[in-house]
Formats: sequence, C-alpha cells, structure tokens
Amino acid sequence: MEKLIVTGGRPLHGTVDIGGAKNAAVAIIPATLMADGPCVLENVPVISDVSILMDIMQEMGAEVHAMSSHSYVIDSRDIKNCEIQDENARRMRASYYYLGVGLSKFGKASVALPGGCDLGARPIDQHLKAFEALGAKTDVDQGIVYVDAGSGLKGAHIFFDIVSVGATINAMLAAVKAEGRTILENVAKEPHIVDVANFLNKMGADIRGAGTDVIKIRGVSSLKGAQYSIIPDQIEAGTFIAAAVATGGNVKVNNITPKHLETIISRMREVGAEILVDEDSLTVTRKSVLCATNVRTMPHPGFPTDMVPQFSVLLSMAEGTSIITEGIWSNRFRYADELRRMGASFTVDGKIAVISGVERLQAAPVMSTDLRAGAAMVIAGLCAQGTTEVSGVEYIDRGYEDFVGKLSRLGADVKRIQIPDPVSELAAIG
Ligand code: EPU
Repeated sequence: MEKLIVTGGRPLHGTVDIGGAKNAAVAIIPATLMADGPCVLENVPVISDVSILMDIMQEMGAEVHAMSSHSYVIDSRDIKNCEIQDENARRMRASYYYLGVGLSKFGKASVALPGGCDLGARPIDQHLKAFEALGAKTDVDQGIVYVDAGSGLKGAHIFFDIVSVGATINAMLAAVKAEGRTILENVAKEPHIVDVANFLNKMGADIRGAGTDVIKIRGVSSLKGAQYSIIPDQIEAGTFIAAAVATGGNVKVNNITPKHLETIISRMREVGAEILVDEDSLTVTRKSVLCATNVRTMPHPGFPTDMVPQFSVLLSMAEGTSIITEGIWSNRFRYADELRRMGASFTVDGKIAVISGVERLQAAPVMSTDLRAGAAMVIAGLCAQGTTEVSGVEYIDRGYEDFVGKLSRLGADVKRIQIPDPVSELAAIG
C-alpha cells in the first residue's frame, strides 16, 4: 500500500505538460479492435486505467507494442470474440465499451458489469436501449452483460432519455457498421465524444455531428487501421489550474485545447484566478483573495462534475459562502468528511453542498474516496498548514499520469511512500 505525504505552504511555480485525455483513451483503445488492420495511438496517458485496457486487449489476443511511453501499435486482427468476464473488466467503468465494439465487430459480446469510482448509481439502461434499438438482444445474468445482434444490426433513430457520455459513445461504436442510417439524439457533447468520432472517421466510419445534440451515422462495411493522437485531458488541465490558484502560484499549463476549458477558465476567473490563454497553453496566477461562488454541474459545455472536488478546495478557502449543485452523480460529495477533517466548513444535503470559506485548511490524514476526490485532497494538502497524508493513491493513479512528479517539478513538497501492509507485518511477527 502507498500513501502521499503532502506538506503545505509552497505556491506552485513552473510549467506542466498535460497528457492525453483519459476518457477519450478508454474508448479509443477498445475501438481499435474494430479495425481490419493495426492502429497507431499517440498521446496515450500513462495511467492505470489504460494499463488495464492494454492487458484486456492482450488477453483477448491483440498484439500491443509500445513505441514510446505514450504511443502504441495495437493489432487486433487475431481477436476472435469479445467475451471479457474476468476481474479486469470489473476493475473499470470503460470496459462497457467492449459491448458496442463486440457488437460491431462480431455481432455479439459479453462483458462483466463495469466497476469504476463509486459516485452513486451507475446504470447502463441507456446503453442497452441503444443496442436494442439497433436490433440486438440484451441480457444481464449473474453480473455479466450479454448483447447479441443475431442477424445483424440495422440503423435506427434513437432518442436518449438522459444525456450520457458512455451511452453516446457505445451507441456510436455499435452503429458505425450497422446497415443504413442511425440518428442519435440528446447525446453527450464532451470533447472526448468528438475525439472518439474523429478516430472512428479516420478508420473509415461516416459519423457527423459529434459535439452537437444530434449525431448522424451512415453504416460502412469495414473499418481500417488508423494513426491517431488523443486530445489533451481537460480535467487534468483543470486540476493543475485549481492547484495553482489554490496555492497562489504561477503556472504555465502546456498542451491544452483552450476551447475545451472555457467553462473551467471562466469559473476559475470568477473565484480569483488570472488566466492568460495562448494557442495551446495558458498561464494561471491568483489575482485576488479567493471569492465564493455558486456552481451547478451539467453535461458539456456546462461545468464538469469531474472538477467539483478540486473546485471545492478553492471554495473551502474563499471569502463567503458557496453552493455547489451536483447535476450528474448522486454521490459526488463522498469526500466532504475528508475536507471537514482538514477544517473545511462543508455541509451536504443530497446533491447540494454548502461551503463556507475558512482562512486556512489544516493538515490531517485523509482518504481518496474516488479519482477526482484524491486529486482534491492533494491540492488541499498543498494549501494546508502541516503535513497531510493522503491514502487511496490507487484512485489517483487511475487517471493522473505521474501526479507526484508533475507537482514536485512545480515545487510542491509531495512524496509517495510505501506503508506496511498490516497482514504481512503480522505474518512476519508470527
Ligand atoms: N445514466 C443512466 N443510465 C445510463 C447511463 C448513465 O441513468 O445508461 C446516468 C448516470 O447514472 C449519471 C448520468 O446518467 O447520473 C451521466 O452518466 P454518464 O453515462 O454520462 O457517465 P459515464 O459515461 O459513466 C463518464 C466519465 C465520468 C464522468 C461522467 C460525466 C468515463 C469512463 N467516465 O462516465 O468520469 O464523471 O462521464 O461526465 O468516460 C472521471 O473521469 O473521474 C469520471 C468519473
């Protein structure tokens, strides 16, 4: 087991390079299976969710060759079916993309029900609704999801009941080779939706409208291998912006797409950041004392739910009282107890949090309750008086590449340490 030891009080200074987008990579890697030739992926983030997916690809029979730390050749031509029922599938959310991919490539698939961060109920009814509309039969039995297209998939007009990132991507994956035309309405518009569509189009798909409310797909008979560079991760960028503002530092954030960060930048400015935006970078400093604000999370282009914990740290130290209304997950605020342990005044009632700013956070032993909450605990530790211990590092590893290294290079006092496993300690004593 490992912990992060964070000593507060040092403003961050310097330059940080943002990696490839996790939520694009975790869809694009499974999608390589649909190509009739090898794919080359670039700007792939080095995070544990990607390692799990590469393991799944190899277990299925793909040849995965790392050309460098961030680029891979994936040749899936030897994969004969899409049955993923082992522990790896349960370890992450994105394994559900193998349902859409398997339907498209083999006409059927079975995948163990996906895990991922506990943010509340995470049903997949909209994914199944889309598969069924395209002509597949679906079944869930003993924790395994089965989808079977029988005599083939046919294009359909699908209106999603709620806006879902995963269901939008899964429907696109299943529909790219379905016979005829598919129209997806009320879809998600996140940058990673557009990235997945761009990758599929590079493979020969005919997808239009990604990034708007309606996606139109004309089925094609085959997809070829493609070379593709994954977009920068807007949440990683937002996390470093939050860390710079929280510590009162001055940081240049490189390798970003400013358009994807518009909402985050505007809310950061509102609470006291000064942000100068360039073509593919930005520089962030703190202009004034932090000010309270109210924020509601919404699907893109609204304020992203995945920035709530990091933004909460800023609001915990802001002058005045802020209200966060969570519009996506029922259990987004699981980290509230941890921030309270550090002296924050943080009250939660269902999907609403009320935060009254305090002058300074205090160090404490805290836990990462999920990926983004883990990053937020580290940011809180960087601002707190004393030394904070953050456990649950494995959550942070799921989505942040070299988080400790990047922060250290910005001058943060943060270390990763091994902590003795109590079971093996006892065994050694015995
Ligand atoms: N929902 C349904 N039925 C469905 C699908 C979703 O009711 O069939 C509900 C969910 O319960 C939730 C809302 O719809 O209330 C939105 O869920 P969505 O499907 O958009 O989320 P997701 O695809 O499971 C992705 C990201 C999450 C991010 C959300 C929202 C991936 C692998 N995960 O999850 O990212 O919070 O979109 O933007 O893309 C993270 O990166 O830390 C993370 C949790």
